[in-house]
Amino acid sequence: MENFVFHNPTKLIFGKGQLQHIKTEVPKYGDKVLLVYGGGSIKRNGLYEKVIQQLETIGSVVFELGGVEPNPRITTVHKGVEICKQEEIQFILAVGGGSVIDCTKAIAAGAKYDGDPWDIVTKKHLPTDALPFGTVLTLAATGTEMNSGSVITNWETKEKYGWGSPHVFPKFSILDPVNTFTVPKEHTVYGIVDMMTHVLEQYFHPATNTPLQERMCEAVLLTVIESAPQLINHLDSYELRETILFSGTIALNGFLQMGARGDWASHNIEHAISAVYDIPHAGGLAIIYPQWLRHVKSLSISKLNQLAIRVWSVDPIGKAEDEIAEEGIVRLEEFWRSLGAPSKLIDYKIDSKIDLIADKAMARGEFGNYKKLNNDNVIEILKRSLS
Ligand code: NZQ
Ligand code: ZN
Repeated sequence: MENFVFHNPTKLIFGKGQLQHIKTEVPKYGDKVLLVYGGGSIKRNGLYEKVIQQLETIGSVVFELGGVEPNPRITTVHKGVEICKQEEIQFILAVGGGSVIDCTKAIAAGAKYDGDPWDIVTKKHLPTDALPFGTVLTLAATGTEMNSGSVITNWETKEKYGWGSPHVFPKFSILDPVNTFTVPKEHTVYGIVDMMTHVLEQYFHPATNTPLQERMCEAVLLTVIESAPQLINHLDSYELRETILFSGTIALNGFLQMGARGDWASHNIEHAISAVYDIPHAGGLAIIYPQWLRHVKSLSISKLNQLAIRVWSVDPIGKAEDEIAEEGIVRLEEFWRSLGAPSKLIDYKIDSKIDLIADKAMARGEFGNYKKLNNDNVIEILKRSLS
């Protein structure tokens, strides 16, 4: 293992009817609250009203920023920062999916910075402080509810970058599976693909002697593989939503990455694709990730064999290592396809601009913590993903 320090200060409040915790948590930070939400799902499913009721009970003065886009834009971050500074906001409450929460993180850090918050996203400025914020998560996917990362898009320059800071861990996150009932099938599937890819990104790492980390990753994958096909046919099953919601948080709250830093190159490539084409994050991952696995196959044959046998129950008898690894990759592709995820860039009508996407991905130089990718490698992975 690599040496590590683990510190995750987010208070996780999980289960049915947990919204009432707003009344005890928010007043710890102040009266002036900025409520951040997305394109309207929380108004349609009644969650907005319930949150407002909670805030009214404690006498919060509520300002609002709605309309946060999927793949949240820096322009929306600017609007949020302006409200925070002008109105002297003391606390931000994010109610939504990963995009709303990521946008809130950038607003929280931007509110304590005199320059352009894009400097924070591009890592020109390291945040030294942030406004406190909490979240009410409505979509199981990213893990942002219990981590210190955020991904922001600059649509004008076609750039999408991840950034992070210990100052942007949520103070608390409320996860009620009921609040995810209305997530449509398409986004439920994207969430499942995203959390599985987070686990896989962490499964492949340069550290040695990580048997527990590997088995923890496998446990999350097996749980999701068992539950996901049932969930997409029973979108209002409390138990299945609960399992998937918890899996998404565990997949990216730092637990699986203790002592072994994952690769994350596929995420970088995907961010470049959605910077240019604005596709859903996990749609891009479902396409790219299997091709990344093929790219690293010779380097990671024993780990791929372990994954194929332990997670996909591939029968290894009489097969060469390469065959076992490939069978595992095919099972992953088939599983995602069976849920309804895309498998090729052409599914999004993407058949060009490969060089531009590769340029965007290479903007910060070679990347990948397990296998460094250069421009040619990225182009090769993208070409294999085309059709
Ligand atoms: O905007 P609204 O109207 O709320 O609708 C959203 C949106 O259209 C809808 N939705 C969310 N909860 C719902 C719901 N619809 C009905 N009922 C509900 N309960 O779902 C759509 C997608 O929402 P979004 O927040 O964009 O999805 P997700 O949670 O997958 O977040 C994606 C963003 O997170 C970033 C991605 O790059 C992308 O920008 N990521 C953030 C990470 C992090 N901070 O750790 C890690 C991830 O790898 C990822 O990169
Ligand atoms: Zn992701």
